[in-house]
Amino acid sequence: MAPTGTSTEDSTWTGRPDLSDIPNFWTAPIAERAAAFAALREREPVPFYEEPESGFTRGPGFWALTRLDDLTEASRTPSVFTSGKGATNVADMPPEFLEFYGSMINMDDPRHARLRRIVSRGFTPKRLAGLTEEVQRTARTIVDDVIDAGGCDAVTAISARLPLKIVCDMMGVPASRYEFVFDRSNIILGASDPEYVPDADNIVAALLQAGHELAELMRDLGRHRIENPTDDVTSALVNAEVDGERLTPDELASFFILLVVAGNETTRNAISWGLHLLTEHPEQRAVWLADLDGVTPTAVEEIVRWASPVIYMRRTLATDAVLGGQQMREGDKVALYYWAANRDPAHFRDPDAFDVRRSPNPHVGFGGAGPHFCLGAHLARREMTVMFRELLTRVPDIAATAPPRRLQSMFINGVKSLPVTFTPGGSR
Ligand code: HEM
Repeated sequence: MAPTGTSTEDSTWTGRPDLSDIPNFWTAPIAERAAAFAALREREPVPFYEEPESGFTRGPGFWALTRLDDLTEASRTPSVFTSGKGATNVADMPPEFLEFYGSMINMDDPRHARLRRIVSRGFTPKRLAGLTEEVQRTARTIVDDVIDAGGCDAVTAISARLPLKIVCDMMGVPASRYEFVFDRSNIILGASDPEYVPDADNIVAALLQAGHELAELMRDLGRHRIENPTDDVTSALVNAEVDGERLTPDELASFFILLVVAGNETTRNAISWGLHLLTEHPEQRAVWLADLDGVTPTAVEEIVRWASPVIYMRRTLATDAVLGGQQMREGDKVALYYWAANRDPAHFRDPDAFDVRRSPNPHVGFGGAGPHFCLGAHLARREMTVMFRELLTRVPDIAATAPPRRLQSMFINGVKSLPVTFTPGGSR
């Protein structure tokens, strides 16, 4: 059966959607979600919502930005739309979370700029070029491992493996700990899904435990690299001192948690959605296969736009402001819905269509332009490019046999599993 859910044609949605209804709104078919946001953008582009039940103290609610122009303006005005108050999720983080989750994504300048300057050393063009071979080797091994079986769960056997290995390798985490890191990152980004945290009353405890365990792993590694430096990023971050700056062990630990979460789940979901989209749109697969070199760059951007693996990031108002015609007050929470902005018809022709040659494609899947723009965007593009080239060259008929099993989350557009088949041994 062909998966469904990438067009809005069959949607019957008419009412005001409840963006805080995680078990219903965020698990509804993608077409319904798209139609709901289309209606909001049209009728009420900056709606206000009560906060969902999340295991954290419930706050006063949040505004939702659904238009690309409003989202871009908020991203570009970090002195008003701040990241350092409360959290970048809708719920404020309790103080005990800061040790593990208080990384630069939850900071404003000058603290943000200082940390970003230091960790950017791990993402220089030279370092990325050095990783290219490893990305290629890993993608090849991943396909080698499944090619004779003729089928697998694409999420665990394909999409998750590449970013996990690359992030762990960058930081010097040994292969024996990959599964440990994978399980903790599932808890951190999948906490609202009963499959990962079955007891909703335990969400806070589960997040603290996962953060604590990842931080321990990184502190141990950091200590070790101070004595025994290698050429990994951890060694660079704990040893190199540029302009008198280096990371403290706690900063290293929370940066690692940010990387694990930001670098793994996002890229994994983008690849999984890409495989689903190729299945649903054989004509787009044909276009891509006909010109792999020419089409891959635009196809990768289109997958990120269409999937929008990060659904939103929150900001908090430092002063009263008006945006999209809506008066907001100091202290108000504002969620920047990348997923919705990436379907704004004012900027994307036929926004629900999947078009591997879409150009221009001014998507905000990696964030709107601003100080928090995704640090790993180049790496993510490289990983996706290499993985899809490997798949489309060696198993070009790879196709999903069922719809994606989706994560229950208002934050991450996640795929938990996606069964795929292909001609065993490859067809060319
Ligand atoms: C398709 C894959 C990815 C997507 C869709 C994605 C998306 C995003 C988004 C939406 C933001 C927030 C931007 C903002 O608030 O303005 C972000 C930030 C970030 N991303 Fe990514 N990301 C991806 C891959 C990666 C990778 C591979 C890494 C690193 C290994 C990474 C590291 C980060 C970091 C460190 C930040 C915080 C930057 C800051 O606060 O200054 N991301 N990403």
